Amino acid sequence: MSDYGSHDGGTGCFRCCFSFTLTLGLTSIFMWLSLRTSNPILSIQDVYIPALNKTLNSTSYQSIYLDLKFDNGNKDKGIYYAPINITLYYINDSIAHTGIPISNYTLPGFYQGHNKKARRKNWNETYGVPWDAAVKVVVGGKLAVFRVDLATAIRFKILFWKTKKHRLVVGADFGVNDLGQKDRKKGTRLKSGAPGLFSGQSPVAVLLVVFSTLLLV
Ligand SMILES: *[C@@H]1O[C@H](CO)[C@@H](O)[C@H](O)[C@H]1NC(C)=O
Ligand SMILES: *[C@@H]1O[C@H](CO)[C@@H](O)[C@H](O)[C@H]1NC(C)=O
Ligand SMILES: *[C@@H]1O[C@H](CO)[C@@H](O)[C@H](O)[C@H]1NC(C)=O
Ligand SMILES: *[C@@H]1O[C@H](CO)[C@@H](O)[C@H](O)[C@H]1NC(C)=O
Ligand SMILES: *[C@@H]1O[C@H](CO)[C@@H](O)[C@H](O)[C@H]1NC(C)=O
Ligand SMILES: *[C@@H]1O[C@H](CO)[C@@H](O)[C@H](O)[C@H]1NC(C)=O
Repeated sequence: MSDYGSHDGGTGCFRCCFSFTLTLGLTSIFMWLSLRTSNPILSIQDVYIPALNKTLNSTSYQSIYLDLKFDNGNKDKGIYYAPINITLYYINDSIAHTGIPISNYTLPGFYQGHNKKARRKNWNETYGVPWDAAVKVVVGGKLAVFRVDLATAIRFKILFWKTKKHRLVVGADFGVNDLGQKDRKKGTRLKSGAPGLFSGQSPVAVLLVVFSTLLLV
């Protein structure tokens, strides 16, 4: 037997302990970095409402065209989307604060690979739009205001396994002009009411990890 144990015991144990906690700390940082997920960025790219196109001068065709973009910014994680519920509203605060529902439909769920973008372009019928009021607004040079709400559930694919499902509920208001088009040419991002605690970009999650790593090391 060598005299390793008796001679160098204290420092050896300390070193061992230190490198153990350091390894644990670094491992948890790497685990967190590789498991961290970001929700996809959803946006309205284009809208067309022929009934509000003043050149057509007719509200007899009452469909709405909506072009949505799904952007999975995760570098190495795919996303499974459950069926996607879309609800559209006409906003008139003097009638209903939450808007008047004018259309709803469901897009089929799909899988989106990492760093991929997808578009969903649809014509759908509307019901219950107060067209006369809406036309008056746009012809008067203002914007008719609509809202789109999107609800689905997503799970991330990390290497060979899938995360738990979590709900993704986002929405945005958009203005439509007298050409029947969305006033802003750029995309309008759909946002959620509240950021999730572990949604990946959450400062709370970052703080938790930094804090627990400090405790470990
Ligand atoms: C509005 O209607 C006119 C006449 O049909 C058409 O030429 C024009 O392209 C329409 N506007 C848009 C933005 O589609
Ligand atoms: C729009 O149509 C109505 C009847 O549907 C007509 O009275 C009016 O003159 C038209 N306006 C324009 C600008 O074409
Ligand atoms: C969805 O649309 C249908 C008609 O297509 C309507 O009867 C139903 O009430 C709508 N649901 C909601 C939640 O707006
Ligand atoms: C809305 O559009 C989707 C996708 O094109 C289609 O499957 C659905 O039948 C449409 N729903 C209505 C109510 O028009
Ligand atoms: C809202 O509804 C009121 C009452 O029906 C109407 O007078 C007004 O023009 C509407 N405004 C919009 C933006 O549709
Ligand atoms: C979408 O709509 C269907 C039918 O109304 C409902 O069963 C489902 O839970 C909805 N999905 C989400 C994520 O809200």
